[in-house]
Amino acid sequence: MIEPFDVVDLIRGKRDRGTLSTEQIRWLVDAYTRGYVADEQMAAMAMAIFLNGMERREIRDLTLAMIDSGERMSFDGLTKRTTDKHSTGGVGDKITLPLAPLVASFGVAVPQLSGRGLGHTGGTLDKLESIQGWRASVSTERMTEILDEVGAVVCAAGSGLAPADGKLYALRDITGTVESIPLIASSIMSKKIAEGTSALVLDVKFGSGAFLTDIAQSRELAETMVALGEDAGVATSALLTNMNVPLGLAIGNANEVRESVEVLAGGGPADVVELTVALAREMLRLAGQPDADVEAALRDGRAMDTWRAMISAQGGDPDAALPAARETHVVTATTSGVLVEQQALPFGIAAWRLGAGRARKQDPVQHAAGIDLHAKPGDTVTEGQPLFTLSADEPERFSRAIEALDGAYRIGTDGDEIVTGGPLIADRIGS
Ligand code: URA
Repeated sequence: MIEPFDVVDLIRGKRDRGTLSTEQIRWLVDAYTRGYVADEQMAAMAMAIFLNGMERREIRDLTLAMIDSGERMSFDGLTKRTTDKHSTGGVGDKITLPLAPLVASFGVAVPQLSGRGLGHTGGTLDKLESIQGWRASVSTERMTEILDEVGAVVCAAGSGLAPADGKLYALRDITGTVESIPLIASSIMSKKIAEGTSALVLDVKFGSGAFLTDIAQSRELAETMVALGEDAGVATSALLTNMNVPLGLAIGNANEVRESVEVLAGGGPADVVELTVALAREMLRLAGQPDADVEAALRDGRAMDTWRAMISAQGGDPDAALPAARETHVVTATTSGVLVEQQALPFGIAAWRLGAGRARKQDPVQHAAGIDLHAKPGDTVTEGQPLFTLSADEPERFSRAIEALDGAYRIGTDGDEIVTGGPLIADRIGS
């Protein structure tokens, strides 16, 4: 086969701030997927894109080319409307767990293809695997059955979905090219469009615990992704949400499942409830139910019933005790006052060092490892009061976790500014 382009010309073009044509992008992605373009050439291209950006047309072409590198799923056979949510990831972000069954309890199908955690951000599948018997792997036929019967499935994406993204994402991870708007937008949206959902709500994070810390950049990412979704015929909107402070009180895996069950039982921390309810409203609005009484479904047990059915359908026992860590270490307040700061990123890194996350894709996670917070910014604390509890299976892990938390929280006096970086939900983007 004679190749129509020379990859070095394309890399030089992007390096010198040029634009790539539709044909060039389609060829590049195809040639990379089949191994003709080498990893080092694609790494150079990713860095050129990272440094010089892409026009909207180029981002759309890249997204479509990555979709076409694999299969497209279809839920056309379902009688229910499909609606999905994607979060750009953060610390203590367990929202998918209460959200998927909550939305499904309104008769909508929620096909939630999720990932595993890497680095300081947790992965939904790792969290759910804390539940005895629960399996992340579900065939496409079984997925359709569960969507029909229960309404919600949270499972691993098959390797046939946007394989070009799988290859490129692994390369970006080791070449310092993750935090790029064109690359993040095309990566996320190629998978979501290939998945075949008819509506999609994006939870785009900003702040210290997010991929993109700056709100202006997060807004641009959200606008880019909403435009990609709409162009592909997926009703898409985004919430811009604050990730300066950990979400909720639990950071880890099993403890995040516990907190999610509290939300489904009508309780749970106020911030987790607020975000779950806001995203559920948005998903249901896009699925044609703008007046759905979301809070009522949390209060009256409908969302909990769907959760139990969803866990059972994937082999899990919703009544089984969650794993407990062998060792705990409590950190107490050294003075009385007001907790004025609690930074998401160091808490995420500390939970990771305790064993809740993985350093390499093939590593296992320790489901009971993590951090339970006993106070949130704005709370009054007294000297000697527990501020947070670290849990791990190996006590040697505590010292490095505590090191990560040096300077990550601060007790001030009444009247000091509470450092949260603004409201939890900063804006909504999309029609
Ligand atoms: N999640 C993805 O799937 N891709 C990215 O590039 C970043 C987050």
